[in-house]
Amino acid sequence: MTTPHQDLGRDRDLTHDFDPRAPETFTSAHALYREMRSSCPVAHSTTYDGGFWALFRYDDVKRVLDGRDLFTTSVQNTVPRFAFTGRRPPLHLDPPEHTAYRRVINRFFTRDRIAALEPRVREYAVQLLRPLVEAGEGDVSVAYAQKFPAHVFAAFFNLPTDLAELIKEISAAYVAAIQIVDTDNVVRLSRRLYEIAQAVIDERRARPMDPGQDLTSALMAAEYEGEPLPPDMVLGCVRQLLVTGMVAPSVFIGNMFVHLGGDPGLAGLLRADPSRIPAAVEEFLRLYGPYRGMARTARRDVVFGGRLIKAGEPIALVYTSANRDESVFPDGETFRFDRPNLARHLAFGAGVHTCPGAPLARLMLVTTLEEALARTSAFEVSGEIKMASWAEWGTNSVPMRFTAAPR
Ligand code: HEM
Repeated sequence: MTTPHQDLGRDRDLTHDFDPRAPETFTSAHALYREMRSSCPVAHSTTYDGGFWALFRYDDVKRVLDGRDLFTTSVQNTVPRFAFTGRRPPLHLDPPEHTAYRRVINRFFTRDRIAALEPRVREYAVQLLRPLVEAGEGDVSVAYAQKFPAHVFAAFFNLPTDLAELIKEISAAYVAAIQIVDTDNVVRLSRRLYEIAQAVIDERRARPMDPGQDLTSALMAAEYEGEPLPPDMVLGCVRQLLVTGMVAPSVFIGNMFVHLGGDPGLAGLLRADPSRIPAAVEEFLRLYGPYRGMARTARRDVVFGGRLIKAGEPIALVYTSANRDESVFPDGETFRFDRPNLARHLAFGAGVHTCPGAPLARLMLVTTLEEALARTSAFEVSGEIKMASWAEWGTNSVPMRFTAAPR
């Protein structure tokens, strides 16, 4: 007698259901994902070494996030797999190992700490937006979204701004190398980021800072179950924090501008009532969440939508698609202010690996819109939008025209 799993395994067809590397426009991926949710929600792609599975529906993605005994991030936490240079907490670890790092990290994203950063975040937003608005045109991705996170990160991480800018530059090249699967450069640039992380640690050792005020120092001083955190893992954690905080905001910010540029009614409404900007940002996060290649690996054979995923096979969690799933978010392709269940969106993931940086990200995004809307009476896209590619979704270039607000 065969079990249902064996039945599925016998005629298992590892089809090529979609190509994550196909060129994209601002709307094409979401159109494809709408189609995939209805016709092929549990998809297989033969792209990248050995292929991978991709889950497009909300409930399937959530099942993985909730089933942490069955799925691990320690084999590979992204599709394609690229962490060749070492294990980096917290993303590459499962609980209980993961818990030690999150306890330290979470302390740095409390409401009070984030509120204390607000004046500096606003100052950077203004510094970068003012020249764009004064010039009347410019690329909001290149001149703003790709610079702003480095400044904020410098403030958050107690780094000199020029070092944060260098980290941003190397991270961008690193992400670009991952997108084209240029393994040599991925490894080279990752090693460079490790060197920088080590230099930050050495600097803290030479000139100690208060572990209550500085995340690197807190990781260096932390203990878990009476033991200090292993130095190579502290290094890996600093290395991971250097990159994660920069990538998502860089590809996300331009998306909000594209949307508002095409919806002057909504832009006008937010100008008239800025207290609604945080709610708008939350809906933008649902609509335009940047991650689609965060991955887990099944520890045992599992069946999703009648397809057998074998132990050891990578599964991409397509948050970008799950967030528009009509069965959870009716009229999911449309911006709406009144979604009763908006808090369920997965732009920041969910479960143990949920983004610790979400409060800082929200501050950055809300401040950006507050300042951009207050300084303009209109803006619109004025040229070709260029897109990032898998594993991120979002804009790399958004040329815009700005009309300054009357003084
Ligand atoms: C728009 C901005 C951001 C978005 C959309 C975003 C999204 C995400 C998502 C979806 C995850 C979960 C990954 C998974 O499920 O495997 C994550 C994890 C993470 N994010 Fe963010 N993020 C953003 C900004 C930030 C910032 C500003 C920081 C830090 C300064 C940060 C630090 C992290 C870290 C350390 C993790 C790993 C958490 C863990 O493994 O426990 N993120 N982020």
